[in-house]
Amino acid sequence: MRFLPRLVISAALGIATFLSWRLLLWSPATGQGGDLAPRAAEGFTLTLDTFIHVQQLRKKRLRAFCSRSGKVTMLPRSREERARLLSSLRVSSKLDLLYCQVPSTGVEEWQQFLEKLEKENVTLPVPLPYPWRHTPETQLSEFNLTEIEAMLGSYTKVLFARDPFQRLISTFMQGIGSSPSFSSFVQDVLDSGQHSASVAWKPLVSLCHPCLIQYDYVVMFGFLRQELGHLLQRAGLPVDSFLPEFTDTQVRWTYSWLSEQMFRELSLQQKKQLSHFYRWDLAAFPFSSSFLSDLLSTPETW
Ligand SMILES: *[C@@H]1O[C@H](CO)[C@@H](O)[C@H](O)[C@H]1NC(C)=O
Ligand SMILES: *[C@@H]1O[C@H](CO)[C@@H](O)[C@H](O)[C@H]1NC(C)=O
Repeated sequence: MRFLPRLVISAALGIATFLSWRLLLWSPATGQGGDLAPRAAEGFTLTLDTFIHVQQLRKKRLRAFCSRSGKVTMLPRSREERARLLSSLRVSSKLDLLYCQVPSTGVEEWQQFLEKLEKENVTLPVPLPYPWRHTPETQLSEFNLTEIEAMLGSYTKVLFARDPFQRLISTFMQGIGSSPSFSSFVQDVLDSGQHSASVAWKPLVSLCHPCLIQYDYVVMFGFLRQELGHLLQRAGLPVDSFLPEFTDTQVRWTYSWLSEQMFRELSLQQKKQLSHFYRWDLAAFPFSSSFLSDLLSTPETW
């Protein structure tokens, strides 16, 4: 099959989502024991110890990447430069949280959740030593250098990560760009290059600057509810009861299947170029099951 029309894929996604919802609704364990209840759609329980261990591994990998990559590690002095560099970074000065906003990584649901939390007047058990002005402002670059440095030093910083190939598929399905087929969409992405890449598909490393910002947590699409549950607890926000069902678990298997189908539609050259395009993300994060990882043959060309 040369070409999977968007409609067929959307229908498949819809059915898979519907089926996983049914599973969730029928699961007698749902809602029991808060976040630690076994869930039909997830099938495993992430203990706090495992969560912490996994975070350490992810951050170790990031540090190794940063030590050899020559990426930005300093905040620019000029306001314009900062605005450009930090354009994807958001903060909640009320919850002392900072996160990188990348489309299709689950961040949209996270933002809705934060808005709800802010309205609920959740109080932090250990307030920061600085009395922050609580602004509705969420763009990190809107603050001055002193404030940005203090926020980077004290806030809980979160990066949402997802296999770049799945981000591409998700973007394609949302109909961003007008390409008739996935392969021509990928060609448009490759032709646009790194510098004029849309935030919808720009590499995470270029959007979130993990060598400049020492993220406390790297959370992975597909496991958001369990990971964010532990994260919020550790950040002093015991908010299990507010935590929504993120849709990432429902589409996880569908996306594995889709990735396989759509990868086949690409030419070998496109596959190689895509791996090169995302080489930083593939090195910085553990996307070992990504189809693009297998093609990454020349790690020294950073
Ligand atoms: C939160 O606090 C504000 C100001 O103190 C108050 O007006 C509002 O009703 C509170 N909201 C809730 C949900 O308690
Ligand atoms: C940064 O902003 C804060 C709060 O508005 C202000 O008190 C401080 O003087 C500013 N610092 C600089 C260096 O402009």
